Amino acid sequence: MDNWWTSFCILVSYVILSHSQTHIPLTQPTLTSITAVNSTALTVTWVFANATYDQSDLIRITIQFYEFYYNYGPVNTSISYTFTATNKTITSFTQNFDLVNAFYYVCLSSNSTNVNAPSPLVKRTCLLKQTCSRANSSICSQIPFVIISNGASSSNSLNININWLKQLPYTQNGATVQLISNGATGTLLTSTDNGTYVIQTYQISSLQSNTNYTANIIVNYTIFGSILTDAINYTILTSRSSNLFSTGDSFILMICLVFLVFSIY
Ligand SMILES: *[C@@H]1O[C@H](CO)[C@@H](O)[C@H](O)[C@H]1NC(C)=O
Ligand SMILES: *[C@@H]1O[C@H](CO)[C@@H](O)[C@H](O)[C@H]1NC(C)=O
Ligand SMILES: *[C@@H]1O[C@H](CO)[C@@H](O)[C@H](O)[C@H]1NC(C)=O
Ligand SMILES: *[C@@H]1O[C@H](CO)[C@@H](O)[C@H](O)[C@H]1NC(C)=O
Ligand SMILES: *[C@@H]1O[C@H](CO)[C@@H](O)[C@H](O)[C@H]1NC(C)=O
Ligand SMILES: *[C@@H]1O[C@H](CO)[C@@H](O)[C@H](O)[C@H]1NC(C)=O
Ligand SMILES: *[C@@H]1O[C@H](CO)[C@@H](O)[C@H](O)[C@H]1NC(C)=O
Ligand SMILES: *[C@@H]1O[C@H](CO)[C@@H](O)[C@H](O)[C@H]1NC(C)=O
Ligand SMILES: *[C@@H]1O[C@H](CO)[C@@H](O)[C@H](O)[C@H]1NC(C)=O
Ligand SMILES: *[C@@H]1O[C@H](CO)[C@@H](O)[C@H](O)[C@H]1NC(C)=O
Repeated sequence: MDNWWTSFCILVSYVILSHSQTHIPLTQPTLTSITAVNSTALTVTWVFANATYDQSDLIRITIQFYEFYYNYGPVNTSISYTFTATNKTITSFTQNFDLVNAFYYVCLSSNSTNVNAPSPLVKRTCLLKQTCSRANSSICSQIPFVIISNGASSSNSLNININWLKQLPYTQNGATVQLISNGATGTLLTSTDNGTYVIQTYQISSLQSNTNYTANIIVNYTIFGSILTDAINYTILTSRSSNLFSTGDSFILMICLVFLVFSIY
């Protein structure tokens, strides 16, 4: 009987213990932003989970920078922090680099632990960034590998060029071009190569003349084994109507005809 009682108690305490262990709510810090400060520096910002819910007694953060340029790198550097529940005070880090206007694949990894939790919570988030222009350090690219530009547009259609930079360690996974106003999607018209860029021209037709349209452009690519997505809103204007018989033009035409009739006599 005694034996049975001991076994029962061990079992109950085991159940209580494992139950409480699996309910330690571990949370992770979140990468907020990576911003280009100038042509040689990036600032990484993160936020810790609300202390009301975060039960981690140790959080380790590692920020890795993979620095590369045309035919150079990656050169890898990293910085690590250890935080306890009471000293989660550092929430940003600025790194200076040797290269100017280079590319950076930046990963923030975190490892949240609690002595009573059965396993740590490990997370990793990566983003691609480029430092600002060499000539003007307030010009900073929104989408590192891609430049959006206007193609030849007419009064009822728009051409948008997606220029993908070449000679960099990534692969293109495709893009979508979609108007915000009506959801119309662009079709890939041509793909050319000018040595520096692969230029994909997307066309959207059945539009109104002399109208500003905003397209949501999403580009996907794979770098160092991860798939990344970038989005940009790009505004472009259709040209004025070339139709001679639109109201304004026909009025001018009538005046001309009248003038012609007068000058004949
Ligand atoms: C870029 O910004 C960093 C951080 O503020 C600063 O240390 C560095 O001197 C700046 N570099 C240039 C070229 O302005
Ligand atoms: C943390 O959560 C508590 C409870 O929901 C809330 O009152 C508090 O404002 C939150 N703090 C922050 C910094 O969001
Ligand atoms: C830097 O990290 C990248 C991505 O993990 C890897 O491909 C590369 O070999 C590393 N470079 C060095 C010098 O360790
Ligand atoms: C927080 O405290 C721990 C333990 O005292 C220490 O090792 C760590 O360096 C501190 N972290 C920061 C960011 O001050
Ligand atoms: C997370 O931290 C724990 C405790 O220090 C360690 O045992 C584990 O290996 C770490 N995991 C990773 C992926 O760094
Ligand atoms: C740099 O670019 C900004 C934004 O386009 C512009 O306002 C500024 O005049 C430029 N500065 C120089 C020195 O060209
Ligand atoms: C790009 O990636 C997003 C999110 O992963 C996906 O929804 C979309 O279909 C992809 N687009 C293309 C053209 O690959
Ligand atoms: C290639 O096209 C891009 C974007 O249209 C342009 O900026 C660049 O000057 C072109 N390069 C060459 C070598 O023609
Ligand atoms: C289109 O947008 C530009 C820039 O905001 C503005 O200057 C222009 O007047 C707009 N044109 C039309 C027809 O709405
Ligand atoms: C583009 O505009 C839409 C609608 O205004 C907005 O919801 C979306 O967040 C914007 N996207 C970007 C990348 O700015």
